[in-house]
Amino acid sequence: MLKGRHLIEPADLSIKEIDEICSLAEQILVDPAAFADVCRGKILATLFFEPSTRTRLSFEAAMLRLGGSYLGFADAAGSSTTKGESLSDTIRTVASYTDVIAMRNPKEGAALLASKYSDIPIINAGDGGHQHPTQTLTDLLTIRSIKGGFNDLTIGLCGDLKFGRTVHSLAKAMSRYQRVKFILISPSELQIPEYITSQVFKRSGIEYSTEERLEDVIGDLDVLYMTRVQKERFFNEQDYIRLKDSYILDNEKMKLAKKSLIVLHPLPRVNEIAPEVDDDPRAAYFKQVKFGMYARMALIAKLTGAI
Ligand code: NCD
Repeated sequence: MLKGRHLIEPADLSIKEIDEICSLAEQILVDPAAFADVCRGKILATLFFEPSTRTRLSFEAAMLRLGGSYLGFADAAGSSTTKGESLSDTIRTVASYTDVIAMRNPKEGAALLASKYSDIPIINAGDGGHQHPTQTLTDLLTIRSIKGGFNDLTIGLCGDLKFGRTVHSLAKAMSRYQRVKFILISPSELQIPEYITSQVFKRSGIEYSTEERLEDVIGDLDVLYMTRVQKERFFNEQDYIRLKDSYILDNEKMKLAKKSLIVLHPLPRVNEIAPEVDDDPRAAYFKQVKFGMYARMALIAKLTGAI
């Protein structure tokens, strides 16, 4: 039963619940009119203390397409946070006006903290460099729709694996499936945090390797998950400038890849995928954007108990 639950990180959902959400998202995709009213009278709050395009707008579009409404802010500068209000007081307030809260905050652990003060579901829409579980639902729905399932896949995670919260969440979620392998492609300074390799991969018996050159391993991949270097999480601009163009996927590199590869990216992209790749049938990142709204529609419908 998902009604009333929080979603702070992917492990909050069982494999069965992820399947249920993906199946519902696929049903909505096929027949959106049948779901156009299921959240009538319900309100989603979108509290975004950090910038966003896709995540916030897809949450809001999702609620509108379910017949509900939304309120919130896209910039904490206009909220009482600037007067010194604590996150817990903001959450208690918003929870008394709405039915479900999607929240993004620059601090790791902020969504978990918010969930302690909320009697309505909190959805983590990104907490600093930590986790981003609804991007993962989006990624899983995209992989399932194109690849037919999650087992037996070799997944390349490429770019900023240190600060990129989307890869942390995806790694956690995909580690629960059978015979999944990860190839971690990053500069040595942007390697995936140790807690993912020790507490997630090793504990789940997941095979993984670490690489620096994308062209050496692209031919082995079923899924290539590109990410941008997370400028806002660097302490030093010089380091960002030095590392920002570490990987650029272009048609030359795509020639080395399998015909059945899919290329994903949570977006926004900066330079890491050349626009020429957009026309390659293996480029799935704009399909992924669309799946994101349906994944969030299914999640909202489940957490609010509408379905
Ligand atoms: C990602 C994020 O916010 O972590 N964006 C998104 O939600 N699709 C990725 C990023 O900002 O690089």
